[in-house]
This record gives sequence, structure tokens and C-alpha cells, in this order.
Amino acid sequence: MSASTGTSASASTAYDAKFRVWRGDAEGGELKDFAVEVNDGEVVLDIIHRLQATQAADLAVRWNCKAGKCGSCSAEINGRPRLMCMTRMSVFSREETITVTPLRAFPVIRDLVTDVSFNYAKAREVPSFVPPPGVAAGEYRMQQVDVDRSQEFRKCIECFLCQDTCHVVRDHEENKTAFAGPRFLMRVAELDMHPLDAAGESGLDRKKTAQDEHGLGYCNITKCCTEVCPEHIKITDNALIPLKERAVDRKYDPLVWLGNKIRRRGE
Ligand code: SF4
Ligand code: SF4
Ligand code: FES
Repeated sequence: MSASTGTSASASTAYDAKFRVWRGDAEGGELKDFAVEVNDGEVVLDIIHRLQATQAADLAVRWNCKAGKCGSCSAEINGRPRLMCMTRMSVFSREETITVTPLRAFPVIRDLVTDVSFNYAKAREVPSFVPPPGVAAGEYRMQQVDVDRSQEFRKCIECFLCQDTCHVVRDHEENKTAFAGPRFLMRVAELDMHPLDAAGESGLDRKKTAQDEHGLGYCNITKCCTEVCPEHIKITDNALIPLKERAVDRKYDPLVWLGNKIRRRGE
């Protein structure tokens, strides 16, 4: 008696998917339609590569690891910011037209490649960790709970999907000067909550800079950034809300208020 698997091993499951891809550059462009072969287990980046190999050799696309770790294949798929290498074709129906466009919050260079230098500029604006005085490197000690908090934030792969989706800058170029975006407010929060960061001793008030220089007040905790993060970092709950609470506490702390008043009188 022979066993049956219920499916024919030779049956082809390949099909042609309808893709609509943005082609153009900084001067302008348009969506172009393509039919591209899809095989079992493939992701959107595989299809974009096949499109490049068979029909659009000059299609510009940025990628590197194809494993969700380098953060370079960010794009918008059916209007949602996603990593192309981590978006399985099986989540779409075969009849659906899949639209792939460049990240909307950043200027287009060509096709699916955008200029993300806004993010590098914002990264440079966050002062780095200030080592505690009198403690040699290698002798730092902190509680596991503090290590775990930092490690969640350090999972960031710098894909900038959170930056792209945040409504504060997505359609408001004018806000970019004053707003660092969720990824870099998360960095400020990480450092402000770091038990060994000695920024305060060196005269740097990270809570104040979060509000005055990085635009914390623009964030109205909609959690859209958290929803698109491929590393599932709880950006809003674990970084932005605690940072807001700390900044408000500082403002309404009676001792801080008294200290500021005395300082002002002495000036
Ligand atoms: S929670 Fe704040 S930072 Fe995140 S998307 Fe909303 S407004 Fe932007
Ligand atoms: S926080 Fe998440 S969405 Fe934002 S850049 Fe890092 S990995 Fe990407
Ligand atoms: S290619 Fe590296 S995250 Fe997609």
C-alpha cells in the first residue's frame, strides 16, 4: 500500500503577480505596471529582483542582507512602510495588484531609493553617552533591568520606517528642522534613563533638550512608529511616553522649580 501526500509533487505553484512600481527621480515619475513571476516562499524583494533581471534592468533598489537586519530595503508596499525582504508574497492574494513606492518622507534619488540623510543629521544632534567620572571602562555595573531596557532600543536596524510613517514629518517637510523623529527621541530616552550616563554632571539636561531641540512635544503618542517597527521595539510605550513623563516631572518638580527660581534671582 503506498502512502499519499494529498498533493502532486510536480504541480507548479508559480504564478504571475501584478506589480505597480514607482519609476522616476527627483524631477518626477510615475507608477508602471508589470507582471512578474512569483514562486513559493518568495518575498517582495525577490520579485523586485526578478523584475530587475527580466524587464527593468535599470530599476534602482537598495538592499543588502535579505534577512531583515541591514535596514536598507525599506519601501512602501501598498502604502505601508515595510522591509521588502521581510514581506512575504503569501500575505497578498494572487489577484491583488501590489504597489511598491519609495519612502514618502524622504527625497527620492531614483525609483525606490531615497535620500535618508535627514536621519544621519538627526543622529548627530543627539549628544552621546557621557561616561561616569571615576569609573574605569570595564568597571561599569548596572542592574539587569536597565541593561534589558537599553537592549530593546539597541535592536534598532536603522531602517527608518518609523521615521517615514510618523505624521509629524511624513507630510510636513517644515517640521523636519525641529523634530528628530521617533528613532532619535528613542535614543535620547535611552540615554536619559541610562543609570550611568553622567550628562547631568556635565551640564547637559537631556529632558530639556528632548523638548527644546528634538521636538518631543510634537509627538502625540499615536503609536504609528511602533506599528511599523520590524524589530517590534515598543518605541512609544517604552521610550517616548516615559521620556514625556520624565520631562513633565522635571517641569513640575517643586525642587526643580525652586532651584530655577533661586538661580534666576542670583543672575
Ligand atoms: S507616537 Fe509620536 S513619534 Fe511615533 S508616530 Fe506617533 S507622533 Fe510620531
Ligand atoms: S526603531 Fe524600528 S522602525 Fe525605527 S529605525 Fe529602528 S528598527 Fe527601524
Ligand atoms: S535587505 Fe537588509 S533588511 Fe532587507
